[in-house]
Amino acid sequence: MAPEDADMYLNFYALTEKPFNPTPDPKFLYMSPAHREALAQLSYGVQERRGFMLLTGKVGTGKTTLLHALRKRLTSQTAISFVFNTTLPFDGILEYILEDLGIAKGLESRAQRLIALQHFLVDRERAGENTVLIFDEAQNLDAATLEQIRLLSNFETPTDKLLQILLVGQPELRAKLSLPELQQLKQRIGLRCQIPPLAPEEVRQYIRRRLRIAGSHDLGLFSDAAVDRLTEYSGGIPRVINMVCDHSLVFGYADQKRRIDRPIVNQAIEYLEEGASPSSQPKAVKLNGSRVRLLSRWSFGTLAVALADERAGPCPVSAPPPAPMSKFFEALEQAQQEKAARRRTVPAAPAEPVAERAPVVTKPPAPAEPVAERAPVFSKPDAPTFPQPVPRRVRRSSLEPSRGGSNETEEHLQMEEHLVSLLAPTSFEAEQYRTLRHLIEQLHKAAELQVFAVSSPTASDGKTTTAINLAGALAQSHDARVLLIDADLRVPTVGTNLGLDERPGPGLADTILNSSLTLDAVVQVRPQLNLSILPAGRLPSAPYEVLKSPRVGELLAEARKRYDYIVLDTPPLVSVPDCRVIGRWVDGFLIVVAAHKTPRKLLEEAIRVAEPAKVVGLVFNGDDRHLSRDSYASYAARQFSDGHGGGWWRGPFGTRDRRHRKHTASDD
Ligand SMILES: Nc1ncnc2c1ncn2[C@@H]1O[C@H](COP(=O)(O)OP(=O)(O)O)[C@@H](O)[C@H]1O
Ligand SMILES: [Mg+2]
Repeated sequence: MAPEDADMYLNFYALTEKPFNPTPDPKFLYMSPAHREALAQLSYGVQERRGFMLLTGKVGTGKTTLLHALRKRLTSQTAISFVFNTTLPFDGILEYILEDLGIAKGLESRAQRLIALQHFLVDRERAGENTVLIFDEAQNLDAATLEQIRLLSNFETPTDKLLQILLVGQPELRAKLSLPELQQLKQRIGLRCQIPPLAPEEVRQYIRRRLRIAGSHDLGLFSDAAVDRLTEYSGGIPRVINMVCDHSLVFGYADQKRRIDRPIVNQAIEYLEEGASPSSQPKAVKLNGSRVRLLSRWSFGTLAVALADERAGPCPVSAPPPAPMSKFFEALEQAQQEKAARRRTVPAAPAEPVAERAPVVTKPPAPAEPVAERAPVFSKPDAPTFPQPVPRRVRRSSLEPSRGGSNETEEHLQMEEHLVSLLAPTSFEAEQYRTLRHLIEQLHKAAELQVFAVSSPTASDGKTTTAINLAGALAQSHDARVLLIDADLRVPTVGTNLGLDERPGPGLADTILNSSLTLDAVVQVRPQLNLSILPAGRLPSAPYEVLKSPRVGELLAEARKRYDYIVLDTPPLVSVPDCRVIGRWVDGFLIVVAAHKTPRKLLEEAIRVAEPAKVVGLVFNGDDRHLSRDSYASYAARQFSDGHGGGWWRGPFGTRDRRHRKHTASDD
């Protein structure tokens, strides 16, 4: 199915994302008692340094998903290498592990690699830290490789295992470990656990959980009879449940049914088993007088688009088949029509208030395809994606605020849950912001960039989330001095996100308007976060004029002396003029782009406003596709014309190539 049709049923069922994706996203993890037990055992086994551990389960039962959850749960004191490609020979695996753990590259011999690994393990041990190797799909490892892996477990002190090794695989892995040549390995396994298929009641709960995480308000979307049928057909295997549920939603949407009942599930099953049924599949349709045979189910997508285009174009087309049509065909048609209707009715430029006195020079950009839609889809598991700006949910953190670095209180902050860099700095999500931090640090070193504005073409693209998480990630380095400034003097949300609003005080606007208020008087210091925060303060009636004041330059000059990094959250680039003046004071803009949402034209406009020379990178927010870092960078490397013939960009976090590097085919 074409990527632009992937979200076809989301609106209809009021979902924020697809609930039944086939990816091992731990966010969706449903903890059946067996999953909970396995996760607890494995965490315990790693902490207790049990050496070899074994996790087995039939294909699709959730092993890989559980491993991602385990990885999130293990602390920063654990180095983890995740080996997915178990068909590599042992030396390839060893090389991969060394690189994954950041130990060394390019070591020639196995002996050199083993020595490097040993040094690493001993160093970690001295620092009180643990190292874990996880082999997923370990049933593919041949006996000789398994034996070499066993030898790795010989890295030990008289009292402790230096390396914990987790073998994960399908049930045949157990059989393999019973081979006579693997007896030594089998004897060393210090912990075994298994994931069985879900029981009937668990299937119901599983479906409800995934719907809830995907934003559904109707957890009974699948009727009881539908769930019974799903249980029966899937045998409780989550991957099969996901496939049938996803297809059922497509079919339900095609029929415009608000509830998925048993007949819809049956249609989905039939479709999965056999492709479109003879009664519903058109064998051939007439197009321009010639009969076009539909060869595979994916042809429906292509054909639906082709038909739509043909019908719109000048070329006369014989009528599309009146009936019958496949459900996929109907759903795709439906999605196309809805999309066309949206394009007709939704204004591309967001309707935000514009400061009365400010000169506005933006022209409303023409509707265009979303930026991410044309991008290729890459498939490296586990590559950086950015958490979507989630609906406001607040969770209690254990952080205590203080003002001016002095008067700490026992009060606790209510922070937004998605501020992962602050609340869960060792989490998988926070890891992704560390990648961004790393690139900003490089820019800092190489080009002495220090003051970064985080902005986006329009509102609600994830600016504030990105700004706070970036500042939090930078502040994780203990010797870094980081100041986060809320420079959005129209709709400031840094304070709300960080739970500072209960104690409002003077902020940026106040110190701009009243020069007797020093930086010290307005900056709030959070020693626990290693972060200083300058909230927006009292909102002025003409933010643009306030931000234009030379006092902003003075304040930032002062801040530059005291902080290594200054991160500004700003208003959107296109709809209000503030960033045009903010641009004067900062070294660079990071532009947050809402994946699948921001139209390309709007992004081009935003880059023009920020001034191309100042854009240091693009951050794709909420992109749920898997992208390797390299391909991610090249995916964003596009030519954005600045209207004057310039502008080659590498992103999302890369810098502008200042040597005017030529665009090559490999960039796309
Ligand atoms: N306990 C679970 N909670 C949520 N989703 C699950 C669970 N178990 C499996 N899934 C889903 O089923 C699919 C297959 O899971 P995966 O972890 O890849 O299985 P395995 O590694 O055992 O083959 C994925 O889409 C995954 O998200
Ligand atoms: Mg797996």
